[in-house]
Amino acid sequence: MPRETDTRGALLPLLHGLQEEFGYIDDALVPHVAEALNLSRADVHGVVTFYHDFRRRPPARHTVRLCRAESCQARGGNAIEQAAVERLGTPMGTTRSDGEVALEAVYCVGLCATGPNAIINGKIVSRLDGPKLDRLLEQGTG
Ligand code: FES
Repeated sequence: MPRETDTRGALLPLLHGLQEEFGYIDDALVPHVAEALNLSRADVHGVVTFYHDFRRRPPARHTVRLCRAESCQARGGNAIEQAAVERLGTPMGTTRSDGEVALEAVYCVGLCATGPNAIINGKIVSRLDGPKLDRLLEQGTG
């Protein structure tokens, strides 16, 4: 029988593997993971909800992450956020009800001199302005 430290050590790799396979950790998987590792459901649920990297719902098809850190804000980030909220039809920090797009904040992507910055579908976009945002959104997230 595996020691408790062995099964706890296996929990994170297993959860990461499930998320990689399915895109998220469905709540229905929690009892199965708990049973497989001889842990309580509360233990597994606690880990899934503690780490923000674990998604509990299917990911949005498109993700728009706007830099909300100081330098990008000084370079027009608030106007970009307002434009994104209006264009995408979902408040900051949410996924639109149709599941198509998520609008999220990031806090500095290390390119402060070329802000405002965003990460759109995993690609960093610098010197973002309203027209550029519209163009990018029409290309991939409209
Ligand atoms: S503050 Fe936005 S990239 Fe650094």
